[in-house]
Amino acid sequence: MQIRVIDHPLIQHKLSLIRDVNTGAKEFRELLEEIAMLMAYEITRNLPLEETEVTTPVATCRCRVLAGKKLAVVPILRAGLGMVNGVIRLIPAARVGHVGVYRNPDTLQPVEYYCKFPSDIAEREIVVIDPMLATGGSVVAAIDMIKRSGAKSIKLMCLVAAPEGVLLVNDRHPDVEIYTASVDEYLNDHGYIIPGLGDAGDRIFGTK
Ligand code: PRP
Ligand code: URA
Repeated sequence: MQIRVIDHPLIQHKLSLIRDVNTGAKEFRELLEEIAMLMAYEITRNLPLEETEVTTPVATCRCRVLAGKKLAVVPILRAGLGMVNGVIRLIPAARVGHVGVYRNPDTLQPVEYYCKFPSDIAEREIVVIDPMLATGGSVVAAIDMIKRSGAKSIKLMCLVAAPEGVLLVNDRHPDVEIYTASVDEYLNDHGYIIPGLGDAGDRIFGTK
């Protein structure tokens, strides 16, 4: 099973706040951005480094800088947008692609409506971001689109996952490692994650 639950105390504390029905849109957005930054710190823990020489005001020394492939962050519209700034504040050189997928509320099936990637996406390490992994249909559709563009190395970062979504992504894209702050209990009859945090897009953009 390709899943890693990030149990950092700061992330768990902020996740509890963001779940709260009384947390308004402004605080929700701020918390989501902060959690995204903390999760990005964990996801990038094993990025390769290479040595370089740096001249300080008093000496030269061998230092280490990031090596190898560059990153692209791909938020799934809309709710994934709420995590982008947190990631690119930490990794400013990352490019940002976008995938538009929404879930038909009756069938719960993903509907693709937009796709724009950096031209060199095939050479980049990809981090797909979406706060909610529910049935997994949206993420599977997004990863299908990303793989069709030639990208091979893909990670998924979500805030809250349902067991159903984890199983589907593992089944359809077993090469994709999932990073999440929580695997919740189950999906209700409307496809909402329980306990979850409600509709992430509506809470970010105040559309309900
Ligand atoms: C939400 C969420 C995920 C999707 C998860 O998006 O941000 O993309 O649902 O559900 P799934 O795992 O069952 O596919 P939504 O469809 O509400 O669109 P929005 O972000 O534009 O509101
Ligand atoms: N999408 C959301 O925003 N929340 C859920 O609980 C499930 C899908």
